[in-house]
Amino acid sequence: MESANTLTSTVKARIEAAGSDTELRAIEREYLEKGGVVAGLLAAVPSLPGPERPAAGRAANQLKLEIAAALGAARERLASADLDQERSSAGFDASLPAQHSPRGSLHPIVQLTRELSDLFHSMGFLVLDGPEVETDEHNFEALNIPRDHPARDMQDTFRCDPEGKLVLRTHTSAVQVRAMRQLKPPMRAIVPGKVFRQETTDASHEHTFHQMEGIVIDKDITVAHLISTMKVLLRGVFGREIEVRLRPGYFPFVEPGFELDARCPFCKSGCSVCKQSTWIELLPCGMIHPNVLRSSGIDPETWGGFAFGLGLSRLVMLRFQIDDVRHLLGGDLRFLEQFS
Ligand code: PHE
Repeated sequence: MESANTLTSTVKARIEAAGSDTELRAIEREYLEKGGVVAGLLAAVPSLPGPERPAAGRAANQLKLEIAAALGAARERLASADLDQERSSAGFDASLPAQHSPRGSLHPIVQLTRELSDLFHSMGFLVLDGPEVETDEHNFEALNIPRDHPARDMQDTFRCDPEGKLVLRTHTSAVQVRAMRQLKPPMRAIVPGKVFRQETTDASHEHTFHQMEGIVIDKDITVAHLISTMKVLLRGVFGREIEVRLRPGYFPFVEPGFELDARCPFCKSGCSVCKQSTWIELLPCGMIHPNVLRSSGIDPETWGGFAFGLGLSRLVMLRFQIDDVRHLLGGDLRFLEQFS
């Protein structure tokens, strides 16, 4: 027991003084491994007089535990010293404030799309998606725009194959057809998405832009439903009641068709945004044409509805006062950073 006690303090002092893992390993071998000091002490226990044996055994075991613990602590001390050494030689100072990495922001189109999706979702609309490469059938035929119809010239189309069976969709109305064929009426849905037109670009025209289609099919739907839905939309975007008016508009897939104007949210008596007229052309819309319902297997005697084609890019420009549509997809970070 006596030798165990003196040993404890000697070995601990040696461990504390050790400066490398190799030294610690040597101490470990000398004391704890087969043929080592502790094993020798334990082997000597049976040769002691009977009454001394249990205490001597305990002391030897205690020594073993203490050495192991001291070795563990010393190894940790050495490892963290190594790390400190490595950090300071690499110029690392843990006390410096963190460097902030630049933070991204949501594109204004994404911001508005999310807001409008929430708004329409709260009115029971589904938010749908559709392919950007569309069939001529979905983009035109089923929307009451047959092949030689002059209305095809209203939208200059990017064609994807020589036969003209596939196109880059010119409007989100193509998804109206998909929705009608896949869902049963009654239904309400919006479709935010990218559309493409082969046009010369300028501050208000872009070959790629965003629309948000809306479609409602139910029984006894009237123009009043359309107008009130549009007023909810405007209240959501501009945060207050905004007056609207309808003018006749022609689109083969609606009858009657309208252009919906909103009172200019920025002035009372005319400004550059409304071109001094106090009205802003907001969106085309109308009551879904019976031929369109029929072509998707919906009986126009039972069901009716309205559709609208919101120019999302235009609304984003109005809302954030952006003067050139080409900024939207131009990818200039200086533009995008303004929306964080
Ligand atoms: N799809 C038409 C366009 O892009 C807009 C529209 C949608 C008109 C729905 C009426 C109803 O020009």
